[in-house]
Amino acid sequence: MTDHSELEADLSAQIEAAADLEALEGLRVAALGKAGVVSALLRSLGQMSPEARKTEGPAINGLRDRLTAKIGARKAALEEAALEAELEAGRLDLSLPAPPRRRGQVHPTLQVMDEMIAIFAEMGFSVAEGPDIEDDFHNFTALNFPPRHPAREMHDTFFLKPGADGERKLLRTHTSPIQVRVMRRTNVAVGAPQFEVFQDPPIRIVGPGRVYRCDSDATHTPMFHQLEGLVIDKAIHMGHLKWTLDAFVRRFFEADNVVTRFRPHHFPFTEPSAEMDVQCDRSAGQVKIGAGSDWLEILGGGMVHPNILANCGLDPDEWQGFAFGLGVDRLAMLKYGMPDLRDFFAADVRWLGHYGFSAFADPNPASGLS
Ligand code: DAH
Repeated sequence: MTDHSELEADLSAQIEAAADLEALEGLRVAALGKAGVVSALLRSLGQMSPEARKTEGPAINGLRDRLTAKIGARKAALEEAALEAELEAGRLDLSLPAPPRRRGQVHPTLQVMDEMIAIFAEMGFSVAEGPDIEDDFHNFTALNFPPRHPAREMHDTFFLKPGADGERKLLRTHTSPIQVRVMRRTNVAVGAPQFEVFQDPPIRIVGPGRVYRCDSDATHTPMFHQLEGLVIDKAIHMGHLKWTLDAFVRRFFEADNVVTRFRPHHFPFTEPSAEMDVQCDRSAGQVKIGAGSDWLEILGGGMVHPNILANCGLDPDEWQGFAFGLGVDRLAMLKYGMPDLRDFFAADVRWLGHYGFSAFADPNPASGLS
């Protein structure tokens, strides 16, 4: 019997030493492939005598089987090692700091709008809305604007192209048309249906929303926000208006020492009409509420003009009430010390990151001060 132990030892050593799958495959082909040494030995069996084949056959087959098994084992080991290396290379270092993730922030205007609504809601007001695209009737005529009033000019108001019926719609210049829609029971829900308020008098609503005017500088932007107020009942008078607004301002600025004053003014839709100022200090280059001897106008208001009640189908001899309109962005600037109104609408996330509010942090919706 031919001794194959040297060949076996040699091939086994090479198999054990194969560094990778490619080298191992080379060895397999060299030993067991068609032209391999072991295959040649197997083929030589054919030329042997039956006696020789009896002993050589099992020896060579045994050699082939052992080498096949060794190659298989080495292959499994190399594959395992390759997988290990791959896993090691792609390992996640969980101790690394996570990349910063930008969190959403509530815009100061919406934060302040919510604060205002929360305060008026505590006083028993509901919320009503109206459309941004209004018609002349709701924005002007029903509110007693005379036909040639300057607000009806193109340079003050954004008008849309005339529709099929020739009517020119406009972007509402104030939230006062919400008053008309509530009294005429034609206000529409914008977005949330729970804001639908169809109500007969007595009425007590606030109407927040966007308003538009052709205007742009540090304190005016073409779009800004107002909050309208309307109270209609049998015996509502100017004193109720003053108390309501004083109470609101103290609660909003979270200071009991806020001083206000009413100045006579003119609005077509209220009689008498007034503007309300808050006392403030401007000496440090910043407006401070609750101190100083300067005044800052924050709203207009008055007793609802009898013409408006009549235009809205209410009998002025039976009903009366007050209305007011507050500038939401202006109050946000004052409360949170933001100097330029244009920043509100520049859509700069760095500004929002600085001045924005967390959506969930504050348990008291009427207070953003901490
Ligand atoms: N609509 C007025 C404006 O935009 C503000 C206003 C004044 C609203 C008096 C009112 C009011 O409801 O009574 O300038």
